[in-house]
Amino acid sequence: MQTSKRLEGIGEYYFSQKLREIDELNKQGKNVINLGIGSPDLPPHADVVKTLQEESAKPNVHAYQSYKGSPVLRKAISDWYKKWYDVELNPETEILPLLGSKEGIMHICMTYLDAGDKVLVPNPGYPTYRSAVKLAGGGCVDYDLTEANNWEPDFNALDKLVAAGGTFKLMWINYPQMPTGQLPSAALFEKIVAFGKKHNILICHDNPYSFILNDAPASILHVPGAKEIAVELNSLSKSHNMAGWRVGVLSGAKERIDEVLRFKSNMDSGMFLPAQLAAAKALQLPKSWYDEVNVIYKKRRQKVFELLDLLQCVYDKSQAGMFVWAKIPSNYKTGYELSDEVLYGTGVFITPGGIFGKAGDGYIRVSLCSPEERFAESIERIKEFKPALKVK
Ligand SMILES: Cc1ncc(COP(=O)(O)O)c(C=O)c1O
Repeated sequence: MQTSKRLEGIGEYYFSQKLREIDELNKQGKNVINLGIGSPDLPPHADVVKTLQEESAKPNVHAYQSYKGSPVLRKAISDWYKKWYDVELNPETEILPLLGSKEGIMHICMTYLDAGDKVLVPNPGYPTYRSAVKLAGGGCVDYDLTEANNWEPDFNALDKLVAAGGTFKLMWINYPQMPTGQLPSAALFEKIVAFGKKHNILICHDNPYSFILNDAPASILHVPGAKEIAVELNSLSKSHNMAGWRVGVLSGAKERIDEVLRFKSNMDSGMFLPAQLAAAKALQLPKSWYDEVNVIYKKRRQKVFELLDLLQCVYDKSQAGMFVWAKIPSNYKTGYELSDEVLYGTGVFITPGGIFGKAGDGYIRVSLCSPEERFAESIERIKEFKPALKVK
């Protein structure tokens, strides 16, 4: 069957393809350790699961729900934003619960882009920004993030792009940055908001990692006047170990929420109410919840540092989020080469940085979403097979 033109240039998602390859290796008895994908292996808080169980046992919770989400969940999101980010959001008008933030990326692109509209996307960055822009008919213009510039946009270069005739409808940003783990400074968010206002570009901040290995969660909406030009996506996938539940949120000015809802209400028919009520419970968890999860990630991260030392990779120890981003040694041309050598030589899968854009070619990314023993086993395998690897 002939697929639509909009699918041209949209490949299968890298991980879905790679997981097939890993399945094949497993069938050959390789027992691959997958340190690729960022899907939390830890469970949500027991009270969250209990709320889902209790609520779903009730007879009157199974109908379609409001397109705008349950008032209980919207209020919980508003309180959570106030408590953790010191941001005021009107629960009636400035919050739109989502089935995960990934769908929000698509909804935003479908809401604002016409054929040919240009969008600034980070390189390296989450590949979904790129595919959502293309699917919506827009064109991506990369802005490079470099280690030398702390993985922040180069605003002089951006101003030049605009001065050279570039008109951009949207700009995707994401801090703590994935894949580099770079934390945002307050000054960075201020500069981004000012850039958006100066050129009338809607700033779309994607913020799913602010609670992981980070003691100071920050929202771009904290910048005074940010709502005039910025919206923010957030998610319970990583912060509350609820990736499979599909709960996220879009926050911003009432007008933006109404605009995105015009598109979204034609796509789905709301979320299962017990999942929304359980998500509200999750958002009320005390600081100890985040602390306990982070103790585990910290221990795992130590192991990952050990593994990366073995591979002679160089990394920053103060990264946030659930990955470690590391520069590969010069014996390898790209992270793809190192990743494949380690996968086929030792049965350990780590993500090549190039999947996040050309600027990631010289890097790899290791996920923290596996038990400590799996990292220990990966280290043993790499030690055992190291004589066969290019890195000595
Ligand atoms: C930067 C970034 N944004 C968004 C998402 C999607 O998260 P969600 O589960 O909320 O759709 C991910 C997931 O890996 C991510 O890394």
